[in-house]
Amino acid sequence: MSIVNFRQCTPKKLHMNSTLISREHEALFQTYKRLPVAIDHASGCRIFDTEGNVYLDFLGGIAVNALGHSHPRIIEAVEKQLRKYMHVSNYFYQEPQIQLAEKLKEMTGFDRVYFSNSGSESFEGAVKLVRKWGNARGKTVIIGFSGGFHGRTYAPLSVMDKPLYKNGMEPFLPNNRVLTFNDCEQLRANINEQTCAVALEYLQGEGGVTFATQEFADTIEELRQQYGFLLIADEVQAGGGRTGHFYGYQHRNATPDIVTMAKAIGGGLPLGAILAREHVADEWKPGMHGTTYGGNALACVAGLVVLEELERGITENVWKVGAYLTEKLQEIQQEFPEKITELRGCGMMQGVVLKGESQPIVNALLTRKVIANATSVNVVRLLPPLTITTSDVDEFIGHFRAVIAEA
Ligand SMILES: Cc1ncc(COP(=O)(O)O)c(C=O)c1O
Repeated sequence: MSIVNFRQCTPKKLHMNSTLISREHEALFQTYKRLPVAIDHASGCRIFDTEGNVYLDFLGGIAVNALGHSHPRIIEAVEKQLRKYMHVSNYFYQEPQIQLAEKLKEMTGFDRVYFSNSGSESFEGAVKLVRKWGNARGKTVIIGFSGGFHGRTYAPLSVMDKPLYKNGMEPFLPNNRVLTFNDCEQLRANINEQTCAVALEYLQGEGGVTFATQEFADTIEELRQQYGFLLIADEVQAGGGRTGHFYGYQHRNATPDIVTMAKAIGGGLPLGAILAREHVADEWKPGMHGTTYGGNALACVAGLVVLEELERGITENVWKVGAYLTEKLQEIQQEFPEKITELRGCGMMQGVVLKGESQPIVNALLTRKVIANATSVNVVRLLPPLTITTSDVDEFIGHFRAVIAEA
């Protein structure tokens, strides 16, 4: 596919306090290209900067703020917990952890929950878990797919194909393989008795908001019946109700043994989770895996509010407003077919595939005080809070249409 250069539109109208920029530069590792916005506070799907500007947030803290920023019930729950205790460690029985795990079990049908702090840590743990299971059975190879993103620590990177994240940081873990996403033939040729686990995002986020095809999902299931490997679904981004279903893999009727989660389930606080069927979870005995902070009480009470709100109507909102967003994006695509080639994803995880690069479009949106994200060179990724309304969509669409028209 050839990438057309859209007219570069830099967010020049946003003037940032230059002292803040140089302080950041002097104080922090330079691992991020930050947007020229200094945050003052945030509420719902709005971010307020220190200059008094208000932004429409269709990034939601990279899919974290499922209920929007500063949700009153999350604030109330966290404040209440704050006054009881913040951290005691996993040496103790804690009601918030147990309650959240019970709720997750009830909503997903999984048997056991392990709490971590992030998506990478959840995936790292899942890889250790399948290794433990596989080592007892002579199954040694873990398979990931091109375009997949599972985090920045060594186990995730070892099943990913992203040169920017990997180059110069070799060696990676042995006995991992990265196959082409949605290539059924290649999958068949590479799965055998030695396969320990297959890990994938059924809806890839960083990979351009790309769904596994139904044929690919069915092929994984068929091979799993034949060879008996474990299936890991990475639901760190698509999970927690973002696509209408609680998990992205439900759009493909998959039945993973292990699911990794983070982002949405902490409601804005750092929380990750591994969910597994009992026979897999039982591989780990006391001391084999652990974390100091994972399952922190503040994060767990926030997570419980997220799950309760999903049950109280947010899920319906995702289906309804998500379909409305798709419909409005389709109208723009029909108007500008030479600029938009495809629409992907669903619910509050949608991608607009452009003929040209997506970064200039995202920059142009920012000058209009709209925050979105560019991924996979030519995809504009939308990850708004699950609570947005049709009028938020109308506001976004008005700006998006104008930016596409000008491009
Ligand atoms: C699908 C997926 N897995 C794992 C991760 C890593 O999560 P974290 O950044 O919390 O470590 C991400 C982060 O974007 C993700 O999207």
